[in-house]
Amino acid sequence: MTLLITGGAGYIGSHVVFEALKDGREIVVLDDLSTGFRSRIPTSLPFEEVSLTDRESVFKVFEVHNITGVVHLAGKKQVGESMLRPEYYWNENVGGLQNLVAAMVEHGVKDFVFSSSASVYGEPDLGPDALISEGLECKPISPYGETKFEGERIAKEHAEKLDFKVAALRYFNVAGAGRPELGDQLPFNLVPIVFGALDRAEQPKVFGDDYPTPDGSCIRDYVHVQDLAEAHISALNYVENSQETFLPINVGAGHGVSVFEVIAEISRVSDIEISPVHAQRRKGDPAALVADVSRAAEILGWRSKKDLSDIVTSAWNAWSNNR
Ligand SMILES: NC(=O)c1ccc[n+]([C@@H]2O[C@H](COP(=O)([O-])OP(=O)(O)OC[C@H]3O[C@@H](n4cnc5c(N)ncnc54)[C@H](O)[C@@H]3O)[C@@H](O)[C@H]2O)c1
Repeated sequence: MTLLITGGAGYIGSHVVFEALKDGREIVVLDDLSTGFRSRIPTSLPFEEVSLTDRESVFKVFEVHNITGVVHLAGKKQVGESMLRPEYYWNENVGGLQNLVAAMVEHGVKDFVFSSSASVYGEPDLGPDALISEGLECKPISPYGETKFEGERIAKEHAEKLDFKVAALRYFNVAGAGRPELGDQLPFNLVPIVFGALDRAEQPKVFGDDYPTPDGSCIRDYVHVQDLAEAHISALNYVENSQETFLPINVGAGHGVSVFEVIAEISRVSDIEISPVHAQRRKGDPAALVADVSRAAEILGWRSKKDLSDIVTSAWNAWSNNR
């Protein structure tokens, strides 16, 4: 009984690796180290430095290890880059997933937890107080979001035709660190972007201060990466024990925090005065994106436990540790 964790050397994947070990799982990690770090996870773990785009090598991994379930996090995640290199994103995220599920079919592996994203919803204009539930029509607006939605579609097809049991976890904004050495080092999400600006002695930009929200900045749903990692183990236990074939599940805190509130918390935790630069709204940034997390609570028995202070404090410690 071996669990394959793809992308296990990445920011979120490494947290999932430690949670899986805590859950007593035998695991093998597959990662091409394109954005991940081998040093994030124990050297004693079986590790396959393989790209999912290399079909032959993916199949070999399944021949060597007795894999019985897969948590699939490997992928490219930069929305902006996906606009510039859509084919690359399709090849990495969709081509990679196709090779992975083909190897699963070949070896009769059916339990599948997939890293999807709130980006599948696109920019729903539901008003600042509305919650996004899984029943909302998916209309991704970036190639990145499209690759996640296509990944879900392929997984669903395998569930319907080949009895895969799939939980597609639609993460909202992930931040924080479960351990200082596992922090997010890539400046593509608000918290590390602000940290990077502070390191360069620059002021962070806030895109849009005239949204119909209490302080005028965008509202997003921030979930602590440690809570998110625990959701993966709950999802895995669920697919292993259920007859349900395909289930998309939002993973967020279930309440929103504004960009100004995040920056104020970073200022408090870092003890650095911050005067954000007010910039124009960006295209494709809705006023609010907040998850309805009732399905995760009802079906997985999971709820996020950590708050914004935990997120920013742990992220700041990790950032300082990795400087
Ligand atoms: N970080 C977020 O806020 C967020 C939000 C929604 C969804 N996600 C999804 O979660 C997953 C993990 O994200 P992360 O934040 O940990 O990013 P990350 O870049 O830190 O981790 C991705 C890991 O996948 C590996 N990888 C990439 N392409 C690969 C390939 N072709 N073959 C094998 N390994 C490959 C990388 O080396 C890296 O270790 C991604 O699929 C991402 O799209 C992340």
